[in-house]
Amino acid sequence: MNKQILIIGACGQIGTELTLKLREINGKNAVIASDIREGNEELMQSGPFEIIDALNKDGIEKILDKYAITEVYLMAAMLSAVGEKYPAKAWELNMNSLFNVLNLAKEGKIKKIFWPSSIAVFGPTTPKQKTPQKTIMEPSTVYGMSKLAGERWCEYYFNKYNVDVRSIRYPGIISWKTNPGGGTTDYAVEIYNNALLVGKYDSFLNKSTKLPMMYMDDAITATIKIMDAKPENIKIRSSYNLAAMSFTPEEIALEIKKFVPNFEISYHEDFRQRIADSWPQSIDDSKAKEDWGWKHKFDLHTMSENMLNSLHKKFEK
Ligand code: SER
Repeated sequence: MNKQILIIGACGQIGTELTLKLREINGKNAVIASDIREGNEELMQSGPFEIIDALNKDGIEKILDKYAITEVYLMAAMLSAVGEKYPAKAWELNMNSLFNVLNLAKEGKIKKIFWPSSIAVFGPTTPKQKTPQKTIMEPSTVYGMSKLAGERWCEYYFNKYNVDVRSIRYPGIISWKTNPGGGTTDYAVEIYNNALLVGKYDSFLNKSTKLPMMYMDDAITATIKIMDAKPENIKIRSSYNLAAMSFTPEEIALEIKKFVPNFEISYHEDFRQRIADSWPQSIDDSKAKEDWGWKHKFDLHTMSENMLNSLHKKFEK
């Protein structure tokens, strides 16, 4: 049977680039983008689009039938910083969208699911360096709690109902096409934009806050790779640790200065500092490497070069 893909939350930071890449690989009509509202021009013009509320199971089911969908990527979520402002809404969206998709798979309407987890599943009591795949997990944000609970449900639906669901714990994702919305790691995207637009950045995290990060290209490669892997190679059905690089605001600023010599950074912590302080500084992703051949490509330097070149071209248009 032909692969027919539905992306829920296709207009978000990761959803946009994932949709474009999957369309490049599978052809535009095999990849249906959906979101609660329309996305940017490039996404909207690249293939079919449907309005879907991830909380409406019947609405999702209609689209599954309409396009004979076989795989769903559920990218809709409320991230860590916004989640702290709307705890009940974040829990509802993050959990019930997942249940909708897991239950549709259990009912035989979806063959394979991708659902992203996050480094936010870890908390202040987790070992901070090279955080292992299996370790203490006591997240302190609503977002992290919802992702940890979601991981347990993914494993449960796999064991109990044979639902083929696959997941990775994304670090902070850095990209230039679509801005992130409401995360704690967003500073690492804003900083590049501001470097080019105004030559300075006021960081909401202090200068020595080290966090795990990844360039979008690597995140998309990992997502497609885990979905393409043979089912027997996916030995972890909760979610895989994934890593590329770790840096602090001070380190990224120094890197940016190599390309934008007059760039200036200042620091004024806000409520997101506490969230960042509760997360790991680096991640051990050896299981993803062993099981399905994960390997990252971009480090801080190559990412900075690529980011600044791409943003420069974008702002010139
Ligand atoms: N980037 C996310 C956030 O900051 C972490 O998964 O909320």
